Amino acid sequence: MTDSSPGDKPAVKADQASRPYSPGLEGVIAGETSLGYVDGERGRLTYRGYRIGDLVAHGSYPAVANLLWTGDWEPNHRLPTAPIPPAVLAVLRALPATTKPMDALRTAVSAWGTTLDLPWPPTVDQARALTSFSPSALAAFARLRAGQEPIEPDPSLDLVEGFLYQLTGSRPDAGTARALDAYFIVGAEHGFNASTFTARVITSTRSDIVSAITGAIGTMKGPLHGGAPSEVVDQLSQVGSADHAEAWVREALAKGERLMGFGHRVYRAYDPRAAALRTVAEGMAHKPDWLQLAIEVEDVVLRVLAEKHPDRPLKTNVEFYAAPVLMGVGLAPDLFPATFSLARHAGWTAHALEQAANNRLIRPDVNYVGPPERDLPS
Ligand code: COA
Repeated sequence: MTDSSPGDKPAVKADQASRPYSPGLEGVIAGETSLGYVDGERGRLTYRGYRIGDLVAHGSYPAVANLLWTGDWEPNHRLPTAPIPPAVLAVLRALPATTKPMDALRTAVSAWGTTLDLPWPPTVDQARALTSFSPSALAAFARLRAGQEPIEPDPSLDLVEGFLYQLTGSRPDAGTARALDAYFIVGAEHGFNASTFTARVITSTRSDIVSAITGAIGTMKGPLHGGAPSEVVDQLSQVGSADHAEAWVREALAKGERLMGFGHRVYRAYDPRAAALRTVAEGMAHKPDWLQLAIEVEDVVLRVLAEKHPDRPLKTNVEFYAAPVLMGVGLAPDLFPATFSLARHAGWTAHALEQAANNRLIRPDVNYVGPPERDLPS
């Protein structure tokens, strides 16, 4: 224990009042990265300098994950899903029927860590192994809760195709796999968001990569971080048809509700991930039913939001088009946050590698606002 000891100096430090404090660390620069760059003003997102739209058009999730881990662009890089160790499968089988997907994924990752020796610093091989394990675990959980047996990975399939195969028992058509792969690419990395920061804090203590990703999943479980696409589905089903969109939108805004899939803390322009996903969804052979409705609702929402907030640009964010893509590939809405976590494995693990490569224990200071040093009551 080094946090407090008898004889500490008075708790309130003399320089505390003069030091800047930003609730939620907003605006605080807490690290350096060469992985992803979010340019909110211009609506740009790059991974290692490459534009997200180009990565979606010409890459695949395994190639993008490899780019984040190594810095090398190898468009044909492959990464099949990995088998589940028997001890982890036993844990998944033992979970209560009421277990939520994010809890199952967090537990499976943690259990996977007990089956391996994962020394610090983390390695690209560790990142790869974990990223290829987790889709198998989520697919097995989804099948077990439906009373079905898990399916072994097919090493001839790439990660996202393999995940869908292990989920459904049949090989997805190319368009479906491509659409989910695009979702995985746009979800792979997004700067110092809360879960990524968690992964870096844990890594900075020289704890292992599994602890870092288990913590990150726990952070993403919070509805302020990982919950919006299923809420977009709820709102689109309430709208029902394009003719009702305008009345529904105006009524929701009059009640002070937020329209899911619009606005962003960082982007002031159209979210480039939304644009990339819309293009992919439009190219799907079996166009998701939700897509046409989403496109028509989007037009109305953008017009009404611009009218209500002429000085604050409120544009479409990634979650809006994530919803039709995820519905279109046939995922149950309660699997959306855990699927987002699978996609973010590439970014989380890349940040763990980057943190370890130039490590400094992350340990900020805090303003003490309690009572001054005093004697215990006698
Ligand atoms: N629907 C309706 N109004 C919205 C809105 C939305 N989605 N997003 C922001 N606004 C309005 C706010 O009501 C506020 O209006 P006011 O000034 O009259 O009070 C104004 O725009 C500024 O909002 P603010 O809370 O400062 O924006 P923020 O940058 O802090 O919020 C979000 C960012 C993402 C939390 C917010 O846009 C939101 O709640 N969006 C919906 C949820 C969502 O899609 N989340 C996924 C993000 S990837």
